[in-house]
This record gives sequence, C-alpha cells and structure tokens, in this order.
Amino acid sequence: MAATAKRRSCGVSSSSSSLVFLFSVFSLCQSSFSGETSRRNLTVELNPGSPSLPSGGDLLHVRAVGVNDTLHFLFCSQGAPTLLLVHTNSSSSTVEVNWPQFEARNISGSLKVEPASSILYSSAVVFSRLLEYDDMNDTADPTSDLFPPYELQDFTWSRLNLSGLSALLCGAAKTFSNGSLCLKLSAFESEGRDQSWPRLLHTANSSQLRVWLDGVSPRAPRSRFLLELQAVGGTYPLSRVEVHRSIDDEFTPSIFKVSQWVSSVNGSSDVLGFLQWKPVSYRRSDPALEFATPCRHSDPQPQSGEEVAAASGLIRAFYAEPQTFRLNVSFGLAGEPFYNSTKFFSWTVLLGAGSPPVDSFSPLVLAVMAVGLGTPMILLLLGGVCVCVRKRATGYEPIN
Ligand SMILES: *[C@@H]1O[C@H](CO)[C@@H](O)[C@H](O)[C@H]1NC(C)=O
Ligand SMILES: *[C@@H]1O[C@H](CO)[C@@H](O)[C@H](O)[C@H]1NC(C)=O
Ligand SMILES: *[C@@H]1O[C@H](CO)[C@@H](O)[C@H](O)[C@H]1NC(C)=O
Ligand SMILES: *[C@@H]1O[C@H](CO)[C@@H](O)[C@H](O)[C@H]1NC(C)=O
Ligand SMILES: *[C@@H]1O[C@H](CO)[C@@H](O)[C@H](O)[C@H]1NC(C)=O
Ligand SMILES: *[C@@H]1O[C@H](CO)[C@@H](O)[C@H](O)[C@H]1NC(C)=O
Ligand SMILES: *[C@@H]1O[C@H](CO)[C@@H](O)[C@H](O)[C@H]1NC(C)=O
Ligand SMILES: *[C@@H]1O[C@H](CO)[C@@H](O)[C@H](O)[C@H]1NC(C)=O
Ligand SMILES: *[C@@H]1O[C@H](CO)[C@@H](O)[C@H](O)[C@H]1NC(C)=O
Ligand SMILES: *[C@@H]1O[C@H](CO)[C@@H](O)[C@H](O)[C@H]1NC(C)=O
Ligand SMILES: *[C@@H]1O[C@H](CO)[C@@H](O)[C@H](O)[C@H]1NC(C)=O
Repeated sequence: MAATAKRRSCGVSSSSSSLVFLFSVFSLCQSSFSGETSRRNLTVELNPGSPSLPSGGDLLHVRAVGVNDTLHFLFCSQGAPTLLLVHTNSSSSTVEVNWPQFEARNISGSLKVEPASSILYSSAVVFSRLLEYDDMNDTADPTSDLFPPYELQDFTWSRLNLSGLSALLCGAAKTFSNGSLCLKLSAFESEGRDQSWPRLLHTANSSQLRVWLDGVSPRAPRSRFLLELQAVGGTYPLSRVEVHRSIDDEFTPSIFKVSQWVSSVNGSSDVLGFLQWKPVSYRRSDPALEFATPCRHSDPQPQSGEEVAAASGLIRAFYAEPQTFRLNVSFGLAGEPFYNSTKFFSWTVLLGAGSPPVDSFSPLVLAVMAVGLGTPMILLLLGGVCVCVRKRATGYEPIN
C-alpha cells in the first residue's frame, strides 16, 4: 500500500517537474532572444573626406564598432545604388577615399579599408535593373512581353537624405513622370525589429534596405515588375539561395518562409555573410495583411565582374576583381492584383556579416503557447493529485 502511494506521488512529482521544465525552456528561449546581445557603436558620415559635394552621387559611411571588430557599411548612388559591407578584425580600421579617382569611376583602389590585412570579409549588393512585363493573361510569367528594362545606373538620384541611423535615396527614370523608386537604408546598434512590416529581425551585424516603387505609371494596365539584384564579393561571393521554413507570427503574418542568399567557403555550412528577406512585398505604403503580395526569386547566375563594376561606382572603387552573381525578384504571382491597382510595392532585405538572424516566437506567441500547453498540464497535475488523494482515502478506508 505504502509502495503504491509512493509510486503515485512519484508520478505527480514527475509531471510537475516536466511543467517546470516546460516553463524554463520557454523563459530560456525568450531571454536568449530578447536579452543581452552584442551591441555596436555607430557613427554616420556623408561623403567622408570629400572637399565638396560630389557631383555623381553621395557616399554614406556607417562605421559600426564592436569590441574587437568593425563593420563598415557603405551606401552609394554613383551609378546603380550599391550597399557594401566590409568586416574587419580591428576596432580602429578606417575607410579612405581618393575622391578625384572615385568620381572618375575608372580604376579600382580609389576606396580602401585600412589596414587591408584586417579585412575578414566583404560583400555588396547592387540594385541594377527594374524590369516590367505585360502580364496580359495573368500568368505572372516574367519571360514574355518584357518592356525595355530601366537601368538604375541611368536614373536621376536625389541627394541622400539622412535622419539618425537611416538614409533615404529616391530616383526616377526620365519617363517616370511623377513616380519614383526609393531605397531606405537603416543601420542598427543592437538587435530589434523595424516598425513596419515585414518587421524582419535584425542584429547589429546587419543593415536593412527597404525598396519601394511609388506612383510610376505602368506601361500596360496589367504590368508587373521585377528587380534585378547583383551580389558582389571578393573570394567568397553570395552564391546560393537557401529557403528555410519560418514561423508565422504577429510580425509577418501568413508568411512561412525566409530566403537567404549566402556566401560560404566552398559550399560548407559556415555562412560568412548573407542577404536575407521574406518572400513578401506590400502594395501599400502603410502595410496591412490584405496588401501583402508574394514575391519569388530566380536562381543566382554568375555574371561578368566588369559589367557590374561599370554600373556601380562603389564596386569599381573597392573591388579589383569582383565576383558576381545576380538574380531577379519578381513581385506578384498569378491571380494577385497588378501594379496598377495601387501603383505601389515595397520589399525589404537585410545585408549582414556572419550567420543570418533566426526568427523566434514572439513573447505574445510564447505566452499563448505557455498557457495553451501549460493549462492541460496543470489540469493533469490537479487531476493526478485528486485521484491520488481519493485513492489514498479509499485505500485507508478498510483499516478505519
Ligand atoms: C561604445 O561607446 C561607449 C561609450 O563611449 C563605450 O563605453 C563602449 O565600450 C563602446 N562599445 C563598443 C562596442 O565599442
Ligand atoms: C578582444 O581582444 C583582446 C586582446 O586581443 C582579448 O583579450 C579579448 O578577449 C577580445 N574580446 C573579445 C570579446 O573577443
Ligand atoms: C580616368 O579618368 C580620368 C578623368 O576622366 C583620366 O584623367 C584618367 O586618365 C583616367 N584613368 C584611366 C586609368 O583611364
Ligand atoms: C586580422 O586578420 C589578419 C589576417 O587574417 C591577421 O594578419 C591579423 O593579425 C588579424 N589582426 C588581429 C588584430 O587579429
Ligand atoms: C495570352 O492568351 C492568348 C489567347 O489565349 C494567346 O494568344 C497569347 O499568346 C497569350 N499571351 C501570352 C503572353 O501568353
Ligand atoms: C531576369 O529576368 C529577365 C526577364 O525575364 C531575364 O531576361 C533575365 O535573364 C533574368 N535574370 C536572371 C539572373 O535570372
Ligand atoms: C528627408 O526625410 C524627411 C523624413 O524622412 C522628410 O521629412 C524630408 O522632407 C526629406 N527631405 C528631403 C529634402 O527630401
Ligand atoms: C503629377 O503630379 C501632379 C501634381 O501632383 C498632377 O497634377 C499630375 O497630374 C501628375 N501627373 C501624372 C502623369 O500623374
Ligand atoms: C556579430 O558579429 C560578432 C563578430 O563576428 C559576433 O561575435 C557576434 O556574435 C555577432 N552577433 C550576432 C547577434 O550575431
Ligand atoms: C489601370 O490602368 C488603366 C490604363 O492605364 C486605367 O484606365 C485604369 O483605371 C487603371 N486601373 C486602376 C485600378 O488604377
Ligand atoms: C576551396 O576550393 C578551392 C578550389 O576548389 C581550393 O583551392 C581552396 O583551398 C578551398 N578553400 C578552402 C578554405 O577549403
């Protein structure tokens, strides 16, 4: 009798300890994702060292200093808009620009990160072309009925508009009439999320670009658009795109995937740097669920380094032998509204060094899960106690 009572109490204590375990796992998850992570000290400088306003476009330098390393983010509108990331193993590395050479855009080496021996990794993304096609049969097949592409290097770009840790660049082709293509760069001191959807999780090791096409008159009522992106690197360029399952939570509702274009050493699983995005664009500048539209990407293809260096002043200046891959991101699938419906779409991407951030469940979802899983456990526990007490009471009856 005593033995069975003991066994029962063991059962009860094991279910309560599994409950404690469950809660500790949740709190551990939460603290490891929202708690202390690496921070960087950021300084922002426009046209570093330039004696006057450069004529061909601005160069923004964001220096993000960590304990023993520095990330240099360089954003430039000389030619096609380009974001370059250079990771060094020194907290005192600097960027040096030879402005007459930089503006001439005909030789490499006019922008240097010094000391050169401190460079661990670099990669860049060039927004090279905007493509438009007439999707008259609503098949969303971007290979037919293409209009002549818009070359972003030929756009008229505004000066960079700085505010805090972000910078806005807008440009237009001659035929855009009132519309524009804009890019907003945001750099970060620590981990967090942007205010607007898709609310990608960022760390201090990444910066974010939001791209949008606003108010452009499409060349056909059923037009859809694509963006061509070129990824440039030194020895190990961004070469393959991985699509991972992601969780659907309050930050990016209804999206179950995350795409990351990564650079790795000879195809190993160690990721040196990444471009990361969720396959969603928004058809309104104030995104809401009903304005979300899926987007797709094509397979990265190798491309000539000379072509990208000719299009982007920053690539020309920094890379002697740019290794380049390119892909297309197309906005809207068959059956989705055309660009004409809102004359707007926006898309967001992160460029970073090291491994891409991994989304975790939000505190709200964790709380719901804890309640959802915890309540049955508590009921089980209470049930176990009740049964135990009653069994024990009935067990002692004959003796009484
Ligand atoms: C950032 O700056 C603060 C104050 O200047 C300093 O205490 C801190 O160590 C710096 N952090 C890094 C990562 O350099
Ligand atoms: C930074 O470098 C110093 C000296 O090289 C080393 O002692 C320290 O552990 C390093 N800190 C980190 C966080 O890597
Ligand atoms: C680059 O352009 C500048 C000015 O246009 C010119 O003086 C210089 O000779 C050119 N250099 C090369 C290597 O083509
Ligand atoms: C940084 O890396 C370079 C090359 O990998 C190495 O020569 C140099 O000693 C490193 N510097 C520091 C401070 O670790
Ligand atoms: C659209 O459909 C029509 C009729 O079915 C066909 O003739 C035409 O080739 C199609 N166009 C495209 C771009 O697929
Ligand atoms: C991008 O799309 C255009 C139009 O469909 C196509 O000509 C081009 O080859 C595509 N580029 C890549 C890298 O897939
Ligand atoms: C710069 O951006 C701010 C807000 O981001 C905006 O209010 C301002 O009008 C912009 N200035 C120019 C010259 O575009
Ligand atoms: C451009 O904007 C102006 C004023 O905002 C408007 O009057 C004009 O109709 C627009 N033009 C086009 C082609 O949309
Ligand atoms: C950011 O990069 C530094 C240096 O590579 C690394 O120590 C740190 O863990 C990274 N932080 C995150 C959140 O990935
Ligand atoms: C789409 O474009 C056509 C012609 O350019 C125009 O007549 C129509 O009103 C547009 N539709 C919407 C929803 O704006
Ligand atoms: C990567 O592969 C190349 C050629 O396949 C080889 O020369 C190089 O040493 C490899 N690098 C590493 C780090 O394994």
